[in-house]
Amino acid sequence: MARDKITIVGAGKVGATTAHIAATKQLGDIVLLDIIEGLAEGKALDIAAAGPIQLYDSVISGTRDWEKTADSNIVIITSGVPRGPGMSRDDLLTKNIQIVKDVSEQIARHCPESIIIVVCNPLDAMVYAAAKVTGFTKNKIMGMAGALDSARFSYFLASELGVNVEDIKCVLMGGHGDDMVPLPRFTSVSGIPVTELLDEDKIAELIERTRKGGIEIVNLLGCSAYYAPAAGTVKMVEAILKDKKTVMSCCAYCDSEYDAGGYFVGVPVVLGKNAIEKIIELDLNESEQAQFEKSLTHVKQLVVKVDKLL
Ligand code: LAC
Repeated sequence: MARDKITIVGAGKVGATTAHIAATKQLGDIVLLDIIEGLAEGKALDIAAAGPIQLYDSVISGTRDWEKTADSNIVIITSGVPRGPGMSRDDLLTKNIQIVKDVSEQIARHCPESIIIVVCNPLDAMVYAAAKVTGFTKNKIMGMAGALDSARFSYFLASELGVNVEDIKCVLMGGHGDDMVPLPRFTSVSGIPVTELLDEDKIAELIERTRKGGIEIVNLLGCSAYYAPAAGTVKMVEAILKDKKTVMSCCAYCDSEYDAGGYFVGVPVVLGKNAIEKIIELDLNESEQAQFEKSLTHVKQLVVKVDKLL
């Protein structure tokens, strides 16, 4: 049986870290592609050389040549300018839209059957752009944000409670911005609602830290996060390639769902070999629905900008 093939576009910090984690999990053969001469080739060689130590046999190659990506099962778009201090994700739109447009055209040409995971920012708008340019079936295009934001929320909760991170299960909705919507009502510690274990103020504090989780790292590092974004991306790749039917939040196309009206936005989904196999519709209360609508309005405003540029 042919091995699965994963193309990662962009050999920067997120792309290369994604390649390394995917290799350690032996999810398939990996093509790392970048336009900068030597970058993808060098990182791929380094990751391949770790194989005999970490005991993985994924074939990892670096290239600038799109022909090498042919027949990929999954293409991950990490290419784009990352945030620096003082920047919002939205500040990246004008630059990254051109990159996502070029990359999406190449994906449509070389990997027409692939599933696309977008990782670059502003996330929800870039997923929309990739969908518009490729014209792929909408459930085969998605964005990685929910995995990252849920992981941050879970980590902060586990640290506060002094419990195992594995025991935290949470749902997070909305766009990947400061108005994202972590949902404590749907968050549990091994089935115990988190609202039983922490008071409202503490939960609100951890939600705020989650919303600002990206910029907290930017302020510490001078560049954006990459270990957790890469891990979140690989979780999605694994769910798809192993047909795991994983329930997780990700940026998915919603039309009648949540009355979104045809936008890509963060919602809980089932992820398996057919990509987004189902969108789970929660019965949100008034406050949750209002927060989701606020976040969706923000996404819609970004999409208007994308439409002007594409
Ligand atoms: C973050 C960036 C990658 O949240 O959006 O860290």
